[in-house]
Amino acid sequence: MIHSRDNLETSFIKRNPHLVLLRKINIFKHLNDEALISLYRRMSVRRWHGGSIVMGQHEPGDALYVLVAGRAKVVLFGDNGREMTLSVLSPGDFFGEMALFDGKPRSANVVAERDATLLVLERESFMAHLTEHPETAIRLLKEMASRLRSANEIINNLALHDVTSRLTRTLVNIAEDRGENHDDGILIRHRPTQQDLANMVGTCRETVS
Ligand code: CMP
Repeated sequence: MIHSRDNLETSFIKRNPHLVLLRKINIFKHLNDEALISLYRRMSVRRWHGGSIVMGQHEPGDALYVLVAGRAKVVLFGDNGREMTLSVLSPGDFFGEMALFDGKPRSANVVAERDATLLVLERESFMAHLTEHPETAIRLLKEMASRLRSANEIINNLALHDVTSRLTRTLVNIAEDRGENHDDGILIRHRPTQQDLANMVGTCRETVS
């Protein structure tokens, strides 16, 4: 049987779970099979154990990361040992784009919460991809605008609301982002712990309790 090149590419993507996931990511959704495979071939696969630091704030950075399995969080560490979680990452989320663009050190820490598998794309390869596919850059700007909005929301919460109100707003945001509607309410799977919530609202675990 003779297969066309298009069919071969499509079946190659279907057989590779990393490519299946890449295809679903907003910034790469527009790519045809050939472009997606070419992008994937520029990436390397790396694994981190749960609890390890994938990237540290202030370190130099020259690669974009895509989380394909596990969970991670973007976090700032305070001098007093407190943590402030800026974002929780699940498979399909990417990070590390800021240092890639401005050439400055990493703006935050990224910690693997569980064993995590990531695709790593070096700056040069990503820039080459953006030149070939400018729509990826437009989609990336949209994503960065959305992250800036979330950051504004965090600033607003910290500056203008008390802990109870911050906690309520955070729970509502989590429910809106990843809650499942059921007859008797909204179910949040993989419920954050009290410590996780404390890190999200900038307080200590006892206060959340
Ligand atoms: P970079 O600064 O290269 O390394 C840390 C990464 O964390 C950063 O790129 C972004 O991808 C991500 N990041 C930093 N700040 C935020 C934020 N406020 N919300 C979501 N992600 C962030």
